[in-house]
Amino acid sequence: MSKLTLRSYRASDVERLAALANNENVSRYLVDTFPYPYTKADADWWIASGSKENGAITKAVEWNGAFVGSVGITPQKGWRSHIAEIGYWLGEAYWGQGIATLALRQMSAIAFEEHGFKKLFAPVFAPNQASVKVLEKNEYFLEGVFKREVVKRSKMFDIHFYAKFRS
Ligand SMILES: CC(C)(COP(=O)(O)OP(=O)(O)OC[C@H]1O[C@@H](n2cnc3c(N)ncnc32)[C@H](O)[C@@H]1OP(=O)(O)O)[C@@H](O)C(=O)NCCC(=O)NCCS
Repeated sequence: MSKLTLRSYRASDVERLAALANNENVSRYLVDTFPYPYTKADADWWIASGSKENGAITKAVEWNGAFVGSVGITPQKGWRSHIAEIGYWLGEAYWGQGIATLALRQMSAIAFEEHGFKKLFAPVFAPNQASVKVLEKNEYFLEGVFKREVVKRSKMFDIHFYAKFRS
């Protein structure tokens, strides 16, 4: 049976991380700080510090023992410190097998149960229907839509905010 593990990043993930992240289809609907092209230097920086910036808790997604992607939460500040933003991506070769759905499930449980967050949210580019599916399969709900909120690669997008409360 296929096995999903969320674990801390290791220095040895650098080659796989750079190879899987360096894909325009992966970066298309990610924040504009996710670079494309994605170099080995970007991967080194991510493992050494980027994955922990602003108090983030980031996990490498492992599928049958191989690094396949990333999932993480970023705590919010001040009177929103009970909330964390959640995000995820997988190498394109691993799409369509239910892996992100499982990774989001495990990471949400870690955020709620181990770290005590009360609410998680995910901003999704309106056309990113695969991600919407992953969120809905994990009982995230559409909380609101910010119209014409971001520009990526010279195109304007609405952002759909999905959220889930700790039960
Ligand atoms: C979004 C992403 C994480 C999904 O990962 P995944 O492992 O393929 O997701 P799953 O297989 O768990 O579920 C995907 C679901 O979306 C569906 N889907 C895929 N493409 C779709 C599309 N274009 N329109 C509608 N549904 C789609 C799949 O059929 C599946 O639903 P099902 O289980 O009901 O059949 C992956 O595509 C990815 O890494 N994309 C690039 C990064 C990204 O966009 N991250 C999310 C930022 S919010």
